[in-house]
Amino acid sequence: MIDASLPIFEHQPVMLREITEIFAHVPDGFVLDATLGGAGHATALLTAHSGLKVLGLDRDPVALSVSHERLATFTGRVVTQHCRFDDLETAMNQAGIAELSGALFDLGVSSHQLDAGDRGFSYRQEAMLDMRMDTTEVMTVSDIVNTATEQELARILRDYADERFAGRIARAIIAARPIQTTTELADIVASSIPAPARRRGGHPAKRTFQALRIALNKELEILPDALDSAIRRTQSGGRVAVLSYHSGEDRIVKSRFRQHATGGCECPVHLPCGCGAVSTVRLVRSAAKPSADEQNMNPRSTSARLRVVEVI
Ligand SMILES: C[S@@+](CC[C@H](N)C(=O)[O-])C[C@H]1O[C@@H](n2cnc3c(N)ncnc32)[C@H](O)[C@@H]1O
Repeated sequence: MIDASLPIFEHQPVMLREITEIFAHVPDGFVLDATLGGAGHATALLTAHSGLKVLGLDRDPVALSVSHERLATFTGRVVTQHCRFDDLETAMNQAGIAELSGALFDLGVSSHQLDAGDRGFSYRQEAMLDMRMDTTEVMTVSDIVNTATEQELARILRDYADERFAGRIARAIIAARPIQTTTELADIVASSIPAPARRRGGHPAKRTFQALRIALNKELEILPDALDSAIRRTQSGGRVAVLSYHSGEDRIVKSRFRQHATGGCECPVHLPCGCGAVSTVRLVRSAAKPSADEQNMNPRSTSARLRVVEVI
């Protein structure tokens, strides 16, 4: 039965067919869905592969309760836990799972989080400055906007969004403090950018909101350890797949996968390896994109890049 107290949660899973195929021949057992969201990928995996179970994590309690409900028909095949994915080993230990058959990371925010007006992720909808993926945490993006130094704000905008007007935006934010709401912040950003640049590309506040969200939720900082843990805890023949939506995320995934694929070997390519490095994975997919059809049907999929490794 559908619980009427749960919010309407809409999110179109990205590269669903590709993800289902990638896990078609992994050993039977638990696949970690590190970013359960609305359980679109998890539902497809459980439906397509009867030998698979899902350990589903999400730091967002709303997403977790919605997906818990959605997966209720897969009796005995689903365990969910409210935690950040860099705590995946603790989650596995608590669930009594020794090794994984695979892991899926579908990074970033869900459409539900972006579209839920009160969460403060969108520059289009008036809300208090929040942007917490985990609503049980104390710090919100208001703390960054209203207390960070000008240098720190500019660094966040440059590092997490390649914002060319980072310095001007940071100065404008400092001058306008205290800032309470999303639309207030969006207006301050827009008016700090030169008029010709304002007319080009998307909304002028898009990059600022993205950068602040990534900083608040430590999205890039916690990714390398989580990928290492997932690879370490996946059995031979199992696969680790990552969908990223931001060049900074994709760089981290590429670098960690490469490190595991080479074992850290830097011997000249034309000579046999003499350093004794041991590969722990083989590369299966590198930066695959959604089909043109999928990008047309779901514009939010456009920036997706899929990388996959198989544990040796
Ligand atoms: C793109 S959505 C996933 C959608 C999901 N694959 C589906 O098919 O519905 C990303 C989800 O991951 C969660 N998330 C993001 N970073 C996380 C982290 N570090 N740990 C746990 N969950 C995270 C978000 O709260 C969000 O619900």
